[in-house]
Amino acid sequence: MNMISIAIDGPAGAGKSTISKKVAAELGFVYVDTGALYRTVGYSLISNNVSIKDVEAVQRHLAEIKVDMQNSNGVQKVILNGADVSDCIRTPEVSMAASDCSALACVRSFLLDIQRQIAATHNVVMDGRDIGTVVLPNADIKIFLTADPEERAKRRYEELILKDPDIKYEDVLSDLLRRDHNDSHREIAPLKPADDSITVDTTGNELEESVAVMLKTIRDRL
Ligand code: DC
Repeated sequence: MNMISIAIDGPAGAGKSTISKKVAAELGFVYVDTGALYRTVGYSLISNNVSIKDVEAVQRHLAEIKVDMQNSNGVQKVILNGADVSDCIRTPEVSMAASDCSALACVRSFLLDIQRQIAATHNVVMDGRDIGTVVLPNADIKIFLTADPEERAKRRYEELILKDPDIKYEDVLSDLLRRDHNDSHREIAPLKPADDSITVDTTGNELEESVAVMLKTIRDRL
């Protein structure tokens, strides 16, 4: 049976995961957050003191770990060597490690199959940076979701302050700009809109407005 896939790419803080999760629930599709996979690898590298600059050490580390994804009732969990690490991967440090290690070819190829496999067996809304360009080039619908950097940083800050009351907006903004630059200037699978993608800009939108725009964009084309 042919599965339907909806690819959602865009920079950090554009609202990809929140919007994609709601869109997937509305359509009855499986939501796949591919950033969580890169975060899991980044987390594993940091926890084991593997330098991301030492590509051979990263390769050796990848040969020793197992990364899986589980989805139950619309909630995605990432599993590292059998342990659920979903709650450990949402820190600024892991965000940066994920972005840094995602530039390495060995990391990208390590995570490619797991992403393609789930899209081959389920209808998916998959979000990331290279879904429409590399992971699922034949996706039925490709959306590039973006918003102004200041607004993206503000949204991220509002999430992070709940866990860390000392966090500064300026630091969140500079981390986000650094990550945007990293993710869109790397040689392999850089963040960019696919030629056949539709750009949706969520600047100034409330969450529900963005979800409505996305659902309309998708339903008009399905
Ligand atoms: O979506 P996120 O912010 O959780 O992603 C964390 C990092 O992982 C991001 O800065 C770049 C990398 N990433 C990637 O290179 N390709 C993807 N498909 C998803 C994420």
